Amino acid sequence: MRRALVAGNWKMNGSRQMAGELVSAISAGAPGVVDVALFPPFPYLTTVSGMLQGTAVVVGAQDVSEHAPGAFTGEVAAQMLTDCGCSMVLVGHSERRHGLGETDHGVAAKFLRAMDVGLVPVLCLGETLEERGANRTEEVVIRQLDAVFEQRPATELRPFVLAYEPVWAIGTGETASPLQAQEVHSVLRERMNAAGALGASTRIIYGGSVKPENAEELFSMADIDGGLIGGAALDGAAFLAICMAAGD
Ligand code: PGA
Repeated sequence: MRRALVAGNWKMNGSRQMAGELVSAISAGAPGVVDVALFPPFPYLTTVSGMLQGTAVVVGAQDVSEHAPGAFTGEVAAQMLTDCGCSMVLVGHSERRHGLGETDHGVAAKFLRAMDVGLVPVLCLGETLEERGANRTEEVVIRQLDAVFEQRPATELRPFVLAYEPVWAIGTGETASPLQAQEVHSVLRERMNAAGALGASTRIIYGGSVKPENAEELFSMADIDGGLIGGAALDGAAFLAICMAAGD
């Protein structure tokens, strides 16, 4: 059985004070039966990882450079993240793919940089509303996943996480129905199995307007192994309620 993972993506929100309050609430209330990870903005990583030391909640970053350390002003290298206490990192969030022009190839390079320093990369993938309307959902998510396998054989990958986040459901209040999400998750799992990439043990989490009210139904699907939570991750009580739903 795959253990559920609930990941809180704070995006570019918060302050040092908010980070402190939120982390205290979450670390005190997180149920032991699920894995919980928090993804604060870069400047708060060290504070958050310090506060979480000795707890089961882990810290991740929202992005990482595709480059090795060197002359890349403003970038953050994978080994700097481990140095700050991170054990995970998001790569290819749709706000970066669509808002900041990240390509499948560049995202795959980030994924491998992270993996190679021992971070668990969380590869975000998902289709736009237009792509779904044109019946291209499967093609798009498989292309985004295969971009990694093109750079390294799937059989050589270490553990990672996939986060299916339909772009039309992120921050919009619209959620994919549990069946719609399950359908895509099972396609992704089959694709990993076919490529020899730890398909059965890889967690595929769902993101896109997950709230306490819809979490349980989503997490009850066979291939939905937890959630990547945006808006609701900024509210300690809501986030903990989602963690509880994942543990049921
Ligand atoms: P949301 O964001 O929960 O606010 O839709 C999810 C995400 O972008 O990771």
